[in-house]
Amino acid sequence: MDNPFAEGENRVIRPPATALVIFGATGDLTHRKLMPALYNLLQDEYLPSNFAVFGAARSELTDEQFRASMYESVKKHSRRTIDEKIWERFSRNLFYQPVDATSDAGFRRLKERLDALSGEGKENYNYLYYLAVAPSVFGPTSARLKDVGLVEPPRGGVRNTRLIVEKPFGHDLPSAIELNNVLMGSFSEDQIFRIDHYLGKETVQNILVFRFANGIFENVWNRNYIDHIQLSWAEDIGVGSRAGYFDKSGLLRDIVQNHLLQVLALLCIEPPNSLSDANSIRNEKVKVLSSFRRFSPDDVARYTVRGQYSAGTIDGAAVKGYLEEKDILPSSKTETFTALKLEIDNWRWAGVPIYVRAGKRLPKRITEISIYFKKPPESMFRGRQVGELEQNVLAIQVQPNEGISLKISSKPPGPRMRVRPVVMDFTYGDSFGVASADAYERLLLDAMKGDATLFIRNDEIEQAWDLLDPVLNRWQEDASFPVETYEAGTWGPPAAAGLLRANGHRWRRL
Ligand code: BG6
Repeated sequence: MDNPFAEGENRVIRPPATALVIFGATGDLTHRKLMPALYNLLQDEYLPSNFAVFGAARSELTDEQFRASMYESVKKHSRRTIDEKIWERFSRNLFYQPVDATSDAGFRRLKERLDALSGEGKENYNYLYYLAVAPSVFGPTSARLKDVGLVEPPRGGVRNTRLIVEKPFGHDLPSAIELNNVLMGSFSEDQIFRIDHYLGKETVQNILVFRFANGIFENVWNRNYIDHIQLSWAEDIGVGSRAGYFDKSGLLRDIVQNHLLQVLALLCIEPPNSLSDANSIRNEKVKVLSSFRRFSPDDVARYTVRGQYSAGTIDGAAVKGYLEEKDILPSSKTETFTALKLEIDNWRWAGVPIYVRAGKRLPKRITEISIYFKKPPESMFRGRQVGELEQNVLAIQVQPNEGISLKISSKPPGPRMRVRPVVMDFTYGDSFGVASADAYERLLLDAMKGDATLFIRNDEIEQAWDLLDPVLNRWQEDASFPVETYEAGTWGPPAAAGLLRANGHRWRRL
C-alpha cells in the first residue's frame, strides 16, 4: 500500500551528473555507511541519472573485486535488502582506482578516468571528493587533487568540484586552524563540506521545524519558562576495534565537540532569516556557540566530570573494563564518559543550566534532549493533598525511538482532587509509517546538490574547540584531576549526579 506520508518525496530534485570519489574506500566507513547509503539513494531514485562512484585507496583492486566486496557490505549493512536489478544498475557505475597520497600517479590516472565520463554530447560531471581517511592524509590528498588539475575555481570553472571532510576536524583549536589552512590551499570555504552525521539525522533536523513551525513552543523557548536542559548521549558498546583512535581522542572530542554541540546549537539558536540559505543558519549557530560561557580552570573542576568504565555487565553479559581492553595502556586516563554543566550568556538563555552527559558502556543506546519547564506556583493546590507538582518535560528522543513526548500534569478520574503526570507522545514510526533513512543518505545527496546547510562551517568548528580546549587542557595537565570510574552497564559515576544536585536537579531516568 502507498504510504500517504511519503507523498511529495518523489518530487525531490535530483542532483546534476556527479562523480563521487571516496578516498579510504577500503575502510570501515565506506563499508558500513557510505556504500549502503549510496545504494539506498539509488533505490529511492534520488541519485542523478548520470552518476559514478570511484573507490580510491592504496590496495591494488580491480573494479570487479571492489564491486564484489561492496556487494557484501551493502548486503550486511543496508537498511533494505538488496534488489538484484537495482544492484546491477548501481554496480555498473561503481569503479576502483588505486591511489597513494604520496605520489601523483594514481591521481593522474583518476583524472583520466573521471574526465572520460564527460565529453562530446555528454553531460558534464561534477566531482565530489570524500575524505574518509585518517586526518594525516587530508592535506596530502587535497593537495594532489589540486596538483593534477582535479580542483576547479569555486566559480566559473568547467564543473563544480567539492570536498567532503569526515571528522575528526583537528584535535584542538590550533590543529583545527592548521588543518583548515592546509585544505584552503586547494579548496575554498564554499567548496569544503565538513560532515557531522548527526546533522543528517531526521530528529536533529526536526529540532528546527519543531521550534519554528509551531507557534506554541518558540514563545516559551527561553529563560522565562525553561528551568534547565539535559542532553544525554549513551551507547552500550565499548571501544571495540577502535582503541588506537579512541584512546587518543576520548569521548569529549569524539562526541561532544561535534555531535552534541551541533545538536545544542540548533536547540538554542535564534530564528535564522531563512531555512533555505545555508549561511543564515550557520551564522546563528556561530553566534550561539560563541555565547557558551568559557571554562576557567576552576570551572573545569566544578562543572566537568571525567569518567572511565570498569568491568561490569550489560544485557546479562560480562564486559571488560576500559583499561583491560585490547591496545589500551593500563595507565590511560582517556575518558569514556563525561558530564558537563554549560551556560549560554545571552539574553534568551542567561541562567539556564544545560547539562550534558555522554558515555560508552552505559546500559543502552539512547540520545535524548529533555527540556524542563519551570513549575507553576503550587499555592492553590495546598490543602488538597496533591503532593508536589512535577515539572513539564519535553523530551526529544533523537534515537533509537525517534519521537517527542511532553510530560504534563493531569487529574486522574475520581472524586478526589489529585494530580498525576501523563505523557503525550509523537513517534516517527506511528505518525509517518516509515523508518528514517540513514543520516549519510541525506548528507551525500545534499553535498551532490551543493547544499551546505547541514554541513559545518569552519568558524563553528573553531568555536566548539575554543569552548572545550580549556577542559581538555586541564584534564591533561593536572595530574591530580580525577578519573571517576563507573561500572559498565550503569549510568556513569556518582560525580555526574553531584553536578546537578548542586542546583537541586536530577538526571532524567532514561
Ligand atoms: C561517531 C563516533 O562519530 O559516532 C563513534 O566516532 C560513535 O564513537 C558514533 O559510536 C555514534 O553514531 P550514531 O549515529 O550511532 O549515534
